[in-house]
Amino acid sequence: MTFRIAVFASGSGSNFQAVAEAARDGRIPASVELLVCDKPSATVVKRAESFGIGTFVFNPKDYPSREAYEQEILRELQERGIDLVVMAGYMRLITPVLVEPYYGRLINIHPALLPAFPGLHAARQALDYGVKIAGVTVHFVDGGMDTGPIIAQRAVEVREDDTEETLYARIQRIEHELLPDTVRLIAEGRVTLNDRKVNVRLGD
Ligand code: GRF
Repeated sequence: MTFRIAVFASGSGSNFQAVAEAARDGRIPASVELLVCDKPSATVVKRAESFGIGTFVFNPKDYPSREAYEQEILRELQERGIDLVVMAGYMRLITPVLVEPYYGRLINIHPALLPAFPGLHAARQALDYGVKIAGVTVHFVDGGMDTGPIIAQRAVEVREDDTEETLYARIQRIEHELLPDTVRLIAEGRVTLNDRKVNVRLGD
């Protein structure tokens, strides 16, 4: 049976693209079935259309509460039999309406080595702090801000002459490898979650 993925995104969607390409090219044993997007004008919506991937695009202002639109998202996920939700630049915290039914099947990518530099502008935070190693984290989502159990991380060296733009560009290149790779490990059943610890079985 096909392993079915939904991606949540709010912006450009370069990570959406990386996952959709990997699935299309057979590098991930899965198919991307749905994009969920809270910004009707976001570039990621056009990317999804160009892949022929279904979209659920909404404007949060049209709903009385977060829970109300999340109920609708939950219905979309359940109708499509989604196995894994990938948050890739989805700029909203989610509530128990989504976290509870999908806990352990809901991941997020963050452009820093968590628990350092959660939240917005992680590359800028890393530069301002003066760290020598920045990086990327993929983690399970627990409803907090970038707080869930960590599945995979990769380091990116900070250069003396880095600006936020140059550092973030190198971080994004790593994101585009690490996210599809982590999704593949999950789709292959190699990832198990035990409380805060995530076990990843590599090789055979
Ligand atoms: C990525 O840097 C991701 O780590 C963060 O939001 C950004 C989304 O970028 N959560 P894109 O829209 O995939 O290009």
